[in-house]
Amino acid sequence: MQSWEDPIADSRVMTSAAAPAVFTDPVASQDVPVLKEPQAQQPPPKQTHTFDEVVANPSTTAIVEATLALQNLRDEVEAEQITEAKERHEGVTGLEGIEMGADRIQVDDKKIINCRADLNQLVPFKYEWAWQKYLDGCSNHWMPQEVNMNADISLWKNPEGLTEDERTIIKRNLGFFSTADSLVANNLVLAVYKHITNPECRQYLLRQSFEEAVHTHAYQYCIQSLGLDEGEVFNMYRELPAVARKAEWALPYTNSLGDPDFQTGTIEDDQRLLRDLIAFYVVFEGIFFYVGFVQILSMGRRNKMTGVAEQFQYILRDESMHMNFGIDVINQIKLENPHLWTKEFQQEMIDLIKSGVDLETQYAYDTMPRGILGLNAPMFEEYLQFIANRRFSQIGLPQQYEAANNPFPWMSEILDLKKEKNFFETRVTEYQTGGALTW
Ligand SMILES: [Fe+2]
Ligand SMILES: [Fe+2]
Repeated sequence: MQSWEDPIADSRVMTSAAAPAVFTDPVASQDVPVLKEPQAQQPPPKQTHTFDEVVANPSTTAIVEATLALQNLRDEVEAEQITEAKERHEGVTGLEGIEMGADRIQVDDKKIINCRADLNQLVPFKYEWAWQKYLDGCSNHWMPQEVNMNADISLWKNPEGLTEDERTIIKRNLGFFSTADSLVANNLVLAVYKHITNPECRQYLLRQSFEEAVHTHAYQYCIQSLGLDEGEVFNMYRELPAVARKAEWALPYTNSLGDPDFQTGTIEDDQRLLRDLIAFYVVFEGIFFYVGFVQILSMGRRNKMTGVAEQFQYILRDESMHMNFGIDVINQIKLENPHLWTKEFQQEMIDLIKSGVDLETQYAYDTMPRGILGLNAPMFEEYLQFIANRRFSQIGLPQQYEAANNPFPWMSEILDLKKEKNFFETRVTEYQTGGALTW
């Protein structure tokens, strides 16, 4: 077991640990917020004035009585909330009042969902894989402006530079991705983050959220560089059925979890979280991105739109890590909560992933009605089945597509980080970490 000692810790340092959440009101008292037991058991003082009487005749006694009655009512509600939370096994959020003198956090106190231990202490680490992915994400830092777009601009402006089909592919994919990363980011910060009750996983979620912002920036940078009609591109996800269908498929999962009344802590609600994670990490980021990635990277391999292709290559590398992180989270939730992974739920997830494959296959046919760049829609159909089989295996489900091969083996080379030694050699910018500070 790992342990962690704070070298400057003394008895005055505030600590908190795996104690039940206590709903203390920080503005209710000027004192240091101390663990306060709800006073629901105390009977409220006998009220001798009705509310109307207090309003009609606001004597000091009546106001004091009314205040006490309100206080008691509030205590009762707090006690009810605590009891409900305990019954539901729901976790803390990190926003709870500080619990003075509580036991220090131990590794075994940590849980990936429904954790009752303080979420504001990153260490001791329990999920080293999450911290490592955070570090890896930081080492892969890049910005869209580093990519030279000059060749793309002249090719795009040259009437002979690209065929109509090639232009359609560029526009459709910028249309899909420019809003898709926003949907992913919203799902992370408005839905998922709150319910993942582990600080090292949250640290990665924050890094991922920033990377999604960089991706949206990259698409905007391409759209601006090529002088595309921004209104047309950014509105595709609600004007063009091929693009809209994928966004429509994903949104209900975010909406379900983003409901302010939603809490984990029951089998049904924990499965709802797991369903959202599989929908976004496995299907949205793990399947819906791949027709677009192959199409754009194929152009780059043929020396066309190399700047856009380079942006997509950086993004693919990030996305591959997002998906792997999501799969680790899903598997960790399964490991800690095997009762959630019922036969029925497994079948539901198989159907969910297959519906994603069908939708992405449709996208391939819609964006590629004719063969282009040595690619055609049936090749994508097989490719999607091939990667879906891998996704099924990664989360412990049986593969669903027999004899699906990989028609694009070069994609695996791009995805294999070990083979990407030259990937960042074209970078021209050195990051000025702290270099801008002068005193
Ligand atoms: Fe992204
Ligand atoms: Fe992502």
